Amino acid sequence: MSFLHNKNILLGVTGGIAAYKSVVLVRRLKELGANVQVVMTESAQEFITPLTFQAISGNPVHSSLLDVEAEAAMGHIELARWADAIIIAPATANSMARLANGEADDLLTTICLASNAPLAIAPSMNQAMWSNRATQENLQTLKSRDIEIYGPASGEQACGDVGEGRMLEPEDIVEKLEALFNHQLLSGVRVMVTAGPTQEAIDPVRYISNHSSGKMGYAIAQAALEAGASVSLISGPCALQANNRIQLTHVVSAEEMMTAVHADINDIDIFISVAAVADYRVKQVAEQKLKKHSDSITLELVKNPDILSSVAALDDKPFSVGFAAETEKLEEHARQKLVSKKLDMIVANRVDKSDSGFNSDYNSATVIWGDDSQRFEKSTKSRLASDLLQLIAKHYINNKR
Ligand code: C5P
Repeated sequence: MSFLHNKNILLGVTGGIAAYKSVVLVRRLKELGANVQVVMTESAQEFITPLTFQAISGNPVHSSLLDVEAEAAMGHIELARWADAIIIAPATANSMARLANGEADDLLTTICLASNAPLAIAPSMNQAMWSNRATQENLQTLKSRDIEIYGPASGEQACGDVGEGRMLEPEDIVEKLEALFNHQLLSGVRVMVTAGPTQEAIDPVRYISNHSSGKMGYAIAQAALEAGASVSLISGPCALQANNRIQLTHVVSAEEMMTAVHADINDIDIFISVAAVADYRVKQVAEQKLKKHSDSITLELVKNPDILSSVAALDDKPFSVGFAAETEKLEEHARQKLVSKKLDMIVANRVDKSDSGFNSDYNSATVIWGDDSQRFEKSTKSRLASDLLQLIAKHYINNKR
């Protein structure tokens, strides 16, 4: 499975002759399972029509910043949050200059300023324009802001010149984008993630559970894989698919999850407990389906083991990270759990908002460790997971020193 599978790629197309090649780029990204939204500048539309990109990407093309209807459908802030990565291909000399200046007078430049997703550009221009000092100075500015520069390649140009300035071929751009999602911060490190809800049986057909979709846990497992770790994922019941390079174990109840976690925990360096484990289970699971004879019934519940605490209490404990889903006093409650469960870090997120948290594709979070904390504003769970993994990796590496 490609590292681009399920990634949200925002492609910016600016007005260069290489714009036609970006159609192939979209097609290849789609083949690899990426979701693609295309944003075109006005001049790009002189080279190629939005309809072409719409047909290939399967999404309407975005081009106007001040169009009320387009903003209502998917506004510039929404697009900025949606993106796991932004690639501008082709990137003209003009678009590089505008990016370097931090301009925000069209949809594409505004999204670039509003997004904290990684930004890459594939320059495409005449060789003299590329080697011009103005462009080279803009290039240095963009590099100093950690903007990825893909190419340009050398060769014959549309204008007949020969030299540097050709846009990289779509295949090469795709390869570099894949590498963007495959950094090696945790190379050789073994990570275990728990995800999803647990189901606690009442009788053979009924159970107690919660609204966890598993999306955050699966995104964390994927982000750990992209960081170069070997990853095992212990998942409660959910309808998600994991990358086939992740070692996946399915469990149903908290007790099963506990057993699966402890079967391998001695080999684990980092344990990330994202699962929404049911705190209680039914004391006596009925062997047959309960009949509705009386107006009310009473179920006696007993406490489930706290899997995360049991891991963090091990003598040779892995670097242990918890998740705290809270509906109130977010930081206060999370900090208490950090201490009481003896964790290295805790990720606190609110689950009472309809547009993020459980089941949503979006989330925001505050990560707490020691006396410190870091806030991550709302973005896709995949993007948030990647940011969280970088922070976890940094602290894990520091801890080992
Ligand atoms: O105490 P609370 O359930 O809010 O703690 C949340 C954290 O503890 C999560 O990381 C969750 O995965 C973990 N947990 C656990 N076993 C339980 C309850 C919670 O591992 N029985």
